Amino acid sequence: MSAKRASRKSVRKPKILRVAVIGTGGISSIHMELLTKFDDAQVVAAADINQKALTAAQQQFDIPHVYKDWKTMLKAGGIDAVSVCTPNGLHAPATIDALNAGCHVIVEKPMAMNAREAQRMCDAARKNRRHLIIGFQYRYGAGVQMLKRAADAGQFGKIMFVKCLAIRRRGIPNWGVFGRKELQGGGPLIDIGVHAIEQGHYLMGSPKPVAAVGSTWTYVGNKPSKVECMWPGWDHKTYNVEDLAVGHIRFDNGAVMQVESAFACHGQDSDVMFTFLGEKGGGSSSPPTIHTDMNGTMVDITPGYMPSDGFGDHFAIKMRAFVDTALYNKPNEAPAEDGLRVQQILDGLYRSAEAGREVKIS
Ligand SMILES: NC(=O)c1ccc[n+]([C@@H]2O[C@H](COP(=O)([O-])OP(=O)(O)OC[C@H]3O[C@@H](n4cnc5c(N)ncnc54)[C@H](O)[C@@H]3O)[C@@H](O)[C@H]2O)c1
Repeated sequence: MSAKRASRKSVRKPKILRVAVIGTGGISSIHMELLTKFDDAQVVAAADINQKALTAAQQQFDIPHVYKDWKTMLKAGGIDAVSVCTPNGLHAPATIDALNAGCHVIVEKPMAMNAREAQRMCDAARKNRRHLIIGFQYRYGAGVQMLKRAADAGQFGKIMFVKCLAIRRRGIPNWGVFGRKELQGGGPLIDIGVHAIEQGHYLMGSPKPVAAVGSTWTYVGNKPSKVECMWPGWDHKTYNVEDLAVGHIRFDNGAVMQVESAFACHGQDSDVMFTFLGEKGGGSSSPPTIHTDMNGTMVDITPGYMPSDGFGDHFAIKMRAFVDTALYNKPNEAPAEDGLRVQQILDGLYRSAEAGREVKIS
């Protein structure tokens, strides 16, 4: 190789994903902490209407440019990708603006307030030829991945039934706007039920939902309470979301999903998890277990070894996967189309609860 070619090669700049964050509250700090650890990503800007949150993020993560308004930030340029970490009601406008500005986007769960918004976000990604990734970290957990590999290898046969659970006996968030339907789209179903649904739906191969029957009730969150609990003192005066949601979804392949999700109920706390029944095997995501028949015997299979499967680990895998998709065009396990189908499930359950009957999902 000539000296000229060698020196040209040695000055080639490494690829760095320049990321901006919209909404520098609770969850964004995990995004920023991970992004700043990667050699090929950098947090270059952030926007938040809350000056205190913005300054704290700027100082902690050494962010060169901060803004009160994401539109001004996007206009200033120099950004390849955006992480949207606002309350749910702003996911769609912030994501669509970022996509229209030519950025790849990771948007926190739930994708949007409803399926109409989610569809518009998918359309904007397609129109701008940019990646839109949904912040579904649970599917990256080692246990879910073990089950998914078995499902894809046909070891469960057809999966007929998935039961998704996200139950808190008394766990109404006492921060943020989680009790306000106009800003969040709903309560536990859209906030924590979505975690269980995204995993179970992923295991099923992300089939198309076609009909939903759902019911919701509010009987604890909208009243003052003296009961001791993990997060007392939530704002009961503005609380207008459900305490408990249950429902049933039918899919175009004949499979059925059942959902139970609560911020408050007189029942047992559950992990955010699913169980499933297939023609040749079933199991559970927590603890990761397979039930099947082997050599004439019914057996339960559990992993002999699992890499650590905590919240932090699958969050790190999700953020790494986003950078790999945005920077190197690698396939992603949580594309916008999966987010849209999960949103259609949530939407269907809420619409059915309101209508008091089964609703079609188109
Ligand atoms: N993946 C997960 O496990 C996980 C966990 C927690 C939260 N989340 C999701 O992340 C999102 C944020 O949740 P959070 O707990 O960080 O909430 P939060 O209230 O702590 O943070 C939201 C931030 O958005 C800011 N914001 C509000 N309006 C804005 C605007 N117009 N422009 C810019 N910023 C604005 C707020 O000031 C706040 O700092 C929610 O959608 C939530 O569902 C995901």
